[in-house]
Amino acid sequence: MNSSLKDKWVLITGASSGFGAAAARAFGAEGSRLLLGARRVERLDRVTAEALKAGAAEAHFHFLDVSKTSSVEEFVRWARDRIVQSPSSAVKSTPEDKKSKVQSREAAGGLHVLINNAGGALGLEPVAEGKDEDWETMMQTNVLGVLRMTRAALPLLRHNAGSSILNIGSYAGHAVYEGGAAYCGAKAAELQITRTLRLELSGTGIRVCSIDPGLAETEFSIVRFKGDSARAKKTYEGTQPLTAEDIAEILVWVASRPPHVNIDNMLIKCVDQAAMHKVFRRK
Ligand SMILES: NC(=O)c1ccc[n+]([C@@H]2O[C@H](COP(=O)([O-])OP(=O)(O)OC[C@H]3O[C@@H](n4cnc5c(N)ncnc54)[C@H](OP(=O)(O)O)[C@@H]3O)[C@@H](O)[C@H]2O)c1
Repeated sequence: MNSSLKDKWVLITGASSGFGAAAARAFGAEGSRLLLGARRVERLDRVTAEALKAGAAEAHFHFLDVSKTSSVEEFVRWARDRIVQSPSSAVKSTPEDKKSKVQSREAAGGLHVLINNAGGALGLEPVAEGKDEDWETMMQTNVLGVLRMTRAALPLLRHNAGSSILNIGSYAGHAVYEGGAAYCGAKAAELQITRTLRLELSGTGIRVCSIDPGLAETEFSIVRFKGDSARAKKTYEGTQPLTAEDIAEILVWVASRPPHVNIDNMLIKCVDQAAMHKVFRRK
């Protein structure tokens, strides 16, 4: 296999379903080494097996709740240990002390792609009827989760080696809709975090990108409508939405551009979604 992503470490948050799971399979098919996190570990177990079957050089999973700093830090410690212990990171044995051995192994390996994907929407009530717990969860995952994960994982990303931070934003970060105040606000924040990071990381060679999908059929609407799958299904009725695989393919493409190329922002919509309030639906 000739992929530039072969044997590279790729960390994906929210890998238990939707875009994250599809990305695990897609980077797996490139021969990458995967570090997968989410709260539903039994799902991660399945996705890990699928990614290995697709061709991943290695695939590991671990519980991760991006809404908690302690969980994020514990996850990144675990990720660092996987990278350091990997046979791919082995360096020739010298009498150096343990600390410098670890450092040279990190230099040999290192994280190549961080995909901040964990997140989602909860509820579709107007602000006047909004629920604190829904607002708080959306901010915790889509906004603070991206900040926490990036802060913790940055020391693992190698400088000037073509590494990337790919944040999953949304069309909702660009355009608004009734009932979407907190989610649209959260995804607009994600876009501004991405832009800020690009300034802060200037000179490191680390690329920063926001991938912003429109209507896509994953578990997103089932989560938004709290398990009401009939209501969730209506979201996609008569349209041909994006699939998780469409987005995964784009993530692989963005991460495999030559190291001097940064894709700042990609807005991806299905053809049927001409605008937020204009979605073509077949009878
Ligand atoms: N589908 C769309 O129409 C659409 C459009 C634009 C953007 N997006 C964004 O795309 C991303 C992925 O969503 P999706 O469409 O693939 O939906 P999904 O199938 O519901 O996947 C969401 C993923 O996020 C994880 N997650 C949620 N809260 C988490 C937390 N606190 N800690 C760790 N992981 C958490 C979930 O895992 P666990 O529940 O197992 O933790 C799951 O793996 C989200 O950021 C979403 O906002 C979706």
